[in-house]
Amino acid sequence: MKIEYLQEVGSTNDYIRRYLESGEDIAVCARRQTGGKGTKGRSFLSCEGGVYLSFLRFFSDFPSRNAFYIMQHAAVSVCRTAEEFGIEPVIKWPNDVLVGGRKIAGILIENTFSGGEIKNSIVGIGLNVSNNLGGLSDIAVNLNEASGRTLSCGQVRDRLIAHFCGTGFLQSDKLYRECVRLGAITVVTAEERYAATARRVLDDGRLEIERDGKISALSAAEVSVRL
Ligand code: BTN
Repeated sequence: MKIEYLQEVGSTNDYIRRYLESGEDIAVCARRQTGGKGTKGRSFLSCEGGVYLSFLRFFSDFPSRNAFYIMQHAAVSVCRTAEEFGIEPVIKWPNDVLVGGRKIAGILIENTFSGGEIKNSIVGIGLNVSNNLGGLSDIAVNLNEASGRTLSCGQVRDRLIAHFCGTGFLQSDKLYRECVRLGAITVVTAEERYAATARRVLDDGRLEIERDGKISALSAAEVSVRL
C-alpha cells in the first residue's frame, strides 16, 4: 500500500479525501494535526508524540450491513500493536481502546455508501505514544507510560500499518470478542443514563445488554457507554 508521510496537517481523515477518485488504497500519516477530528463532532488532541494515521480502502462487494467489520478490524489492529509493546488493552465498545481504564487510542471511520454497499472507507486512528496529554491525563494515557518503555512514533506507526494491512477485515472477529469489555456498564443516551450488564457484541456490531432482567440491543449511533 502506498504511504504518504506529512509533518503537519489539519486532519489526516480530511486530507486523504483528495485520493477518493484514485481508486487506489493509500495510508496518510502525520506527526501532528491542527484540526484532529473525533467521533460525534468532537475534536481530537493531536500534538507531536502521537500516531495520526488514516487509511483509505476501496471495496467491491462490501455490503453496508457489514460496516461493523471495519471498526472491529481497526480496533483489533490497535490492540495487536499495543500487545506487541507489552500492554494488555481492552476495547470499550464499539472501538475505544483503553489501558487501565484510560483511553490510549481513538478511531474515526467515514464510509461512502452506494446501493447498499460500502464503496470506500476512511479509517482514522489516533494512538498516543509519547505525547503530553495535559489535562486529559486522568482519562487518557500514552503507550510509553502504559508500557514503561520509550517507544518512537515511527516504530509504533509501522507496526500499526502492518497489523491493519496484514489481515482481511473479516478475520478480526475473534480477537475483538476477546478484547471487548463486557459486564457492568453505564449506558448514556440523549435522554437518560442507566446501569446495565453488557452481555455480548452481536454480529451486526450492536451491544446486547441486560437491564432490569430485560434483554435489548444498543446501537453505537444512539448511545455511548461508560465502564
Ligand atoms: C475519537 O476517539 O473520538 C476518534 C478519534 C480519531 C482520531 C484520528 S487521528 C487520525 C484521524 N484524523 C482525524 O482527524 N481523526 C482521526
